[in-house]
Amino acid sequence: MKKTVFTKKAAVLLLAGVLGAGAAGLGARAALMLTNTVTGQPLDLAEAPEEGRDTKAVKTFLETGVNIYNENLACLAKGHELFLSMCSGCHGHYGEGKIGPGLNDSYWTYPKNETDQGLFETIFGGAQGQMGPMYGALNMNEMLLVMAWVRHLYKDDPKGATWLTDQQRSTFKPFDANAKHIEPAEALTAACGGPAG
Ligand code: HEC
Repeated sequence: MKKTVFTKKAAVLLLAGVLGAGAAGLGARAALMLTNTVTGQPLDLAEAPEEGRDTKAVKTFLETGVNIYNENLACLAKGHELFLSMCSGCHGHYGEGKIGPGLNDSYWTYPKNETDQGLFETIFGGAQGQMGPMYGALNMNEMLLVMAWVRHLYKDDPKGATWLTDQQRSTFKPFDANAKHIEPAEALTAACGGPAG
């Protein structure tokens, strides 16, 4: 009797294990297949700094392609700060475009940048000309933070904000530079992938 129970339990565990492995395999690293935006070559994530590799956000992103920092108000201030120091010189203060294209509207030179996977790939591996790879300057957690700020800067119809969840989209307000907005901040709290985060 005891044995039967054990066997049943074992069978259930085994089945759960198989299903779990299948699901992880589907959603994850292998399925994500990050590639360079211009060459299509696989990205080598080992090129990114050690720091910021094991945060919850990076792990979730590598498994699902979802950026949990999107519209996470507590982390947008840091994303804003990173954007000002790393991107705005070429893309404009609010992503309106300068020597680099606008990042705040629904038009993308590379349509895949409409997805967070595509946006990450472009930031990590770069594109043409002045758009160099960022893995030397930003760690992967910082890339996700800056991506969330780029998404926050979106000024067009929320319907086009396909990177948001349905719930986020229903309350998303197109960015208005003249309205009160989240100021940049230096601090990286644990909830945004900082120490012990
Ligand atoms: C030295 C100037 C420069 C810097 C700094 C820079 N970019 Fe760019 N970026 C460009 C240029 C130029 C292009 C156009 C490249 C192309 O079309 O292949 C571009 C293209 C892009 C694109 C593709 C846009 C589209 O329409 O598909 C994205 C996304 C992007 N940059 C994001 C960023 C982010 C985020 C940062 C900061 C982490 C950044 N860039 C920093 C110059 C820059």
